[in-house]
Amino acid sequence: MKDVKTVGIIGFGVMGAAIGLNAAANGYRVVYKEINDDLVKSMYDKFVTKPLSKRVGQGKMTQADMDKTCSMIKGTTTYKDLSACDLIIEAAVEKMDLKIQIFKELSDALPKDAIIVSNTSTFLIEKLMEKVANPERTAGLHYFFPANVNRLVEVINQKNTSEDTYKALMAFSKQNKKVPITVKDFPGFAINPIFISSYLVLNSFLGGKYNVATLEKVSQEVLGVKYGIMWVQNGSGLGTAYHAGTSMVEYLAKSEIGFPPVPNQLKQMFESGKLWNLEDGPVLQDPTERAVVGNSLLGSIFCISTHLIEKGVVSVKDLELGVCTALAWPKGPFTLMNEMGIDGALKRVKMAVEAGYFKMPRKFASGDLKPWDL
Ligand SMILES: NC(=O)c1ccc[n+]([C@@H]2O[C@H](COP(=O)([O-])OP(=O)(O)OC[C@H]3O[C@@H](n4cnc5c(N)ncnc54)[C@H](O)[C@@H]3O)[C@@H](O)[C@H]2O)c1
Repeated sequence: MKDVKTVGIIGFGVMGAAIGLNAAANGYRVVYKEINDDLVKSMYDKFVTKPLSKRVGQGKMTQADMDKTCSMIKGTTTYKDLSACDLIIEAAVEKMDLKIQIFKELSDALPKDAIIVSNTSTFLIEKLMEKVANPERTAGLHYFFPANVNRLVEVINQKNTSEDTYKALMAFSKQNKKVPITVKDFPGFAINPIFISSYLVLNSFLGGKYNVATLEKVSQEVLGVKYGIMWVQNGSGLGTAYHAGTSMVEYLAKSEIGFPPVPNQLKQMFESGKLWNLEDGPVLQDPTERAVVGNSLLGSIFCISTHLIEKGVVSVKDLELGVCTALAWPKGPFTLMNEMGIDGALKRVKMAVEAGYFKMPRKFASGDLKPWDL
């Protein structure tokens, strides 16, 4: 297994910088590549000097620790300066052609045993790595926003990923105090299909008797969270939400899994440049009307979670851990199903299938009412 000591990061934006800071704080040397000298400097100022100085000013970090972390991070504009890196994490903008080109250039420029991974949110890893020599050293390493705080990392095995590469990435993630889960290459991987389908379903109810405040409240209640799905969607931005939703629909809507369509309500709000107004009126009190939303949301979560297991994308245990860690839900989808009883879950799954969000998962189609083995 490769002993990772030096990490290269391609693209030092929101995600790349947080990934680099996390690695530097845990003892790795970090070399990041940006497009030009101005960006090398401005990204360092924005994502390293400024936030760390603030922490020192607030007494949350010592000046000595800040100096040590800063000394571990260097910027460059050339691939040549990445030649000592054992692991390269690509976190450039989400454009497939650009990423494929970056991986080709990395493959040409670096030693053939450097591990190469992408932090893409939406593209299949196998496709991105198609021009990389020795694809057994490629994989996905998917961090979650904000990557310095959110502890989940999906370690994504594409069909060529070797056991050694996988083990090195698990060890690297643990050394960085992250919670890694093992995931197969699949559109959106394991967590995003659940989160994205949840907001698409919820957004589709907006209008008439359902305002944003009601949808937010219902999602808080059925999932037992302090911040509901509309709130979280605002955090990552409705542009990201819209594009990620569109991508998932393209990949899955016509497959044997299915996927809820992107509702006009989301498209319009994203195009208006605004965020959901979480205080847009009184919360609907009628329990029956609220249950329609809550049960549709849960049914959709149960459908996609079951499909992910049946497709072998992730294990029940890792999906529970992943959802609770990345999305901060107190209970994962399988615990929720077991607690309400599988017959109750089936009722909700049927609602999601009848609404056209998903195809019926095999477990429910076969009438298997055994609780999930957690
Ligand atoms: N923001 C999120 O919530 C989030 C979460 C998980 C994964 N991701 C994924 O992480 C990746 C980065 O997203 P982000 O939000 O940090 O974007 P960002 O726009 O903040 O940062 C991207 C950086 O890449 C740089 N860049 C572009 N082309 C480059 C090249 N050829 N060489 C070197 N640098 C280059 C840009 O200058 C920019 O600084 C995307 O693939 C995104 O899908 C984002």
